[in-house]
Amino acid sequence: MIKLTNVNKVYGKGDSAVHALKDVNLELPSGKFISIVGKSGSGKSTLMNIVGALDSCTSGEVEIDGEVLNNKTSNQLADYRNKKIGYIFQSFYLEPTFTVLENVAMPMTIAGVNRKEREAKAMQAISDLNLLDKAKKKASELSGGQKQRVSIARALVFDPDIILADEPTGNLDSQNGQEVIALLQKICDSGKTVLLVTHNIDDARKTDIMVEIKDGVIANIIENDEATKKAAQHASDYDADGNLIEKSATSKNDSFEQEDIEIKVELAGNNDKQDVKTEKNISSLDVADKAQKVEE
Ligand SMILES: Nc1ncnc2c1ncn2[C@@H]1O[C@H](COP(=O)(O)OP(=O)(O)O)[C@@H](O)[C@H]1O
Ligand SMILES: [Mg+2]
Repeated sequence: MIKLTNVNKVYGKGDSAVHALKDVNLELPSGKFISIVGKSGSGKSTLMNIVGALDSCTSGEVEIDGEVLNNKTSNQLADYRNKKIGYIFQSFYLEPTFTVLENVAMPMTIAGVNRKEREAKAMQAISDLNLLDKAKKKASELSGGQKQRVSIARALVFDPDIILADEPTGNLDSQNGQEVIALLQKICDSGKTVLLVTHNIDDARKTDIMVEIKDGVIANIIENDEATKKAAQHASDYDADGNLIEKSATSKNDSFEQEDIEIKVELAGNNDKQDVKTEKNISSLDVADKAQKVEE
């Protein structure tokens, strides 16, 4: 269970302070597909980042499956991120010059997993995501939909209990977006908790529980019944003009090419020497975090 008690998050100080989360109390059951919806700036990413231990709250308590995150040391938090959470982002955060295999294996490379084991695990995840024919291709050569599937494979390599997906369809066309939502449902069906941040209400209706956030306050929690989920699923079989969307397991729709964000990630241990001791507990997310910092 994800349990937040009186959680506040304030960015900055004094006149420029932003109160991003206000006395949030929330209990989310394990094994469900949960969406966080709300306008831009309402606090969705802040909430996600606090659950994922990418950021800490200003006050209050965060408890995940009985573990209280407050007061954990930075090493313990790194360990929590690595073992417990898989992260998926709108911008994928792949290293464009690396192959799909190298990208998916990256969290294990950083964690110091030996080459044989990490390649075997990465290839399994790549196979699960239907990307075997892309394993040796560079990430920059993939379509947007394929890139997001690579990042999903990377999120799964440590078999986390919780998947956090922050607007994962934001850079995708609707067909590839629907494929990602269907994949998240499948991941949830395999027993994991999936938290999806979206401002697409149709996608939110496909989840078990919708949490609406307004100006940092939890405004609504709505449980969708099976009929609502099915209806939302069916609706997305049609595009905005009412035409049936052609579906395929591996999308051939490569027309959408997101402009590659050139991310320079300082990677410890991306060669095969065992010089990764200092970065042992860093997860894919830290990679993304570093990438984001470079991007900013
Ligand atoms: N690092 C930060 N520093 C200062 N303000 C921030 C920071 N991150 C987010 N905010 C502010 O906190 C509020 C909530 O942001 P965010 O959680 O990113 O919203 P959402 O994901 O719903 O768009 C916004 O007003 C945003 O400008
Ligand atoms: Mg956000």
